[in-house]
Amino acid sequence: MILNFALSRFDVREYITTACHVFRLKPMNPATHSKLIDRFGRHIDYIRISITDRCDFRCIYCMSEEMTFLPRAQILTLEEIFALAQVFVELGVKKIRITGGEPLVRRGALGLIHQLGKLQGLKELVMTTNGSQLDKTATSLKSAGVKRLNISLDTLDPDKFKQITRIGDLTQVLKGIQAAREAGFKRLKINAVILKNQNHEEVADLVAFAVEQGLDISFIEEMPLGAVGDHDRAEAYYSSDAIKADLAGLFNLLPTTESTGGPSKYFRVAGTETRVGLISPHSHNFCSTCNRVRLTVEGRLLLCLGNEHSVDLKRVLRANPGDSEPLKKAIVAGMAIKPERHEFDLTDKPLIFRHMSVTGG
Ligand code: GTP
Ligand code: 5AD
Ligand code: SF4
Repeated sequence: MILNFALSRFDVREYITTACHVFRLKPMNPATHSKLIDRFGRHIDYIRISITDRCDFRCIYCMSEEMTFLPRAQILTLEEIFALAQVFVELGVKKIRITGGEPLVRRGALGLIHQLGKLQGLKELVMTTNGSQLDKTATSLKSAGVKRLNISLDTLDPDKFKQITRIGDLTQVLKGIQAAREAGFKRLKINAVILKNQNHEEVADLVAFAVEQGLDISFIEEMPLGAVGDHDRAEAYYSSDAIKADLAGLFNLLPTTESTGGPSKYFRVAGTETRVGLISPHSHNFCSTCNRVRLTVEGRLLLCLGNEHSVDLKRVLRANPGDSEPLKKAIVAGMAIKPERHEFDLTDKPLIFRHMSVTGG
């Protein structure tokens, strides 16, 4: 069920006063406070902005083979995305991650990213990409001020790569990773979604690749978002604990408290620069430290990846040209409906109908 917020009838001042009363927080003045805080006291200073739902791959865990993408009229323009990003930064957001679909397939993406890189008050501009366009864009992304890139790479076997992405070309992505290194990116991170009987036997090879290339790597448990054809998610489940056990005999993994503010629990491979992250939405829930919200390309502010609670910011933006106050009120008020945690169940039909490509993870 999509819970859309009746913003016009919702008084921000009243919400803050009530929330402070209920949760015994120090009352804030809505006119001056600069932080987004939800009902559970979590500070939101990170937004993930999906700039397109389109992608040049069709990964089996993310999309079905035949996808219908959003018509242009329904999506935010690049100018609107920038305006919204600016408002979030004014509200205290310090980190923006650009995602997709594949963000670099949107025409004009680089121009937008250059503009975002100049936002006063933003500490970190980062991006998640499938790497297919990086050979052409890495230098420009670096000069735009993008600090880090997370690049999806689930396998080092070209045939398997084709099988998992349905249409992707491994050589092209490896070229992209190389280009990003040459452009001077530090702390590049590989994201690998691990699926039983597809690529689970490759975890050690992927870590060895990361060590050799001086990259970080995160292993991700698949999440049940959207229908993805005949891929069986319960059957493909491979836990972070199993991955850790697979690596234990081969690498000396040292626990570390290092964090990028994301959901990865990190280990350092002894004697190397490489960190191995485990993202475990099923086996080790990380929602209590959640610091992020998401903006879809339709202008929907999603309060949680694993729930449908959202605020229609496109409507507020288009109804109030040149006035950012209604948007700020809508965003602050939206914090009241951020759910406590995601509820993922791999054994049943997905409860969340939107695909991961709509939110970029
Ligand atoms: P950094 O920590 O900044 O490097 O990034 P990240 O790992 O948060 O981002 P990335 O885009 O690389 O996402 C990696 C995986 O983490 C994706 O599969 C995301 O869906 C997942 N992820 C990120 N944030 C959340 C979250 O709030 N909830 C859940 N369930 N998964 C998340
Ligand atoms: N479950 C977990 N991770 C997913 N990704 C895409 N779909 C899913 C899913 N259903 C990953 C991509 C990318 C990151 C943003 O999310 O591989 O690395
Ligand atoms: Fe595209 Fe990323 Fe989804 Fe793969 S996981 S289809 S690369 S959006």
